[in-house]
Amino acid sequence: EASFTTVESGKLIMSTNAAFPPYEMTDDSGKVIGIDPEIAGAIAEKLGLELVIEDMEFDAAQVAVQQGKSDICMAGLTVDEDRLAVMDFSDSYATGIQVIIVKEGSDVTLDNLGDQLIGTQRGTTGETYCTDDYGSDHVVPYDNGITAVQALVNGQVDCVVIDNAPAQEFVKANAGLTILDTAYTNEDYAIGFAKGNTALVEAVNGALAELTEDGTVQAILDKYIAA
Ligand code: ARG
Repeated sequence: EASFTTVESGKLIMSTNAAFPPYEMTDDSGKVIGIDPEIAGAIAEKLGLELVIEDMEFDAAQVAVQQGKSDICMAGLTVDEDRLAVMDFSDSYATGIQVIIVKEGSDVTLDNLGDQLIGTQRGTTGETYCTDDYGSDHVVPYDNGITAVQALVNGQVDCVVIDNAPAQEFVKANAGLTILDTAYTNEDYAIGFAKGNTALVEAVNGALAELTEDGTVQAILDKYIAA
């Protein structure tokens, strides 16, 4: 007998922001696909639940789980101090690196980032780090990574600081962009829960451990992320 409860009986509601390929994006029919939906689907199956995905702004996806409107927030979500104060996290299932996207031939480097106008995804760790390090005058938050990269293409910002996996996708999709070799910072991705929802955290961690052990998690990551 399961010791946890969910927002809607029999369902696992996942809040996300599907503008973060390959972790979450929409296909031509508008369906949310990617690494997080697949891992969440495998977890839901193990727990005997039906996965329901709700797509919203990145900040809203975190607030939804904090306020008990969703069961999990899965959004390439980085574990950090600020968030640990307001939500609980599962064990980490992937890692990310904040990288710097520039126009080819640009003279932006990690060392002169403080002289640049930096585009970021609103509400993300990238925005927080850049604001802490260089001040808000140097940081322009966009609704999501796609619009931040569009601003770089249009010359409205000098670079974009964003997670490495979506960075690769955006550079592939936009000619004339490149990722600097210098990484900005490393982070762990995990599933977010309402603070104190220990029974569900433990159930999800149990499922995640089995899916890690049998290679399912790695297979899903490999399917979406080129070596
Ligand atoms: N890893 C970064 C963070 O947690 C960015 C995540 C953005 N995710 C998204 N689905 N838009 O702040």
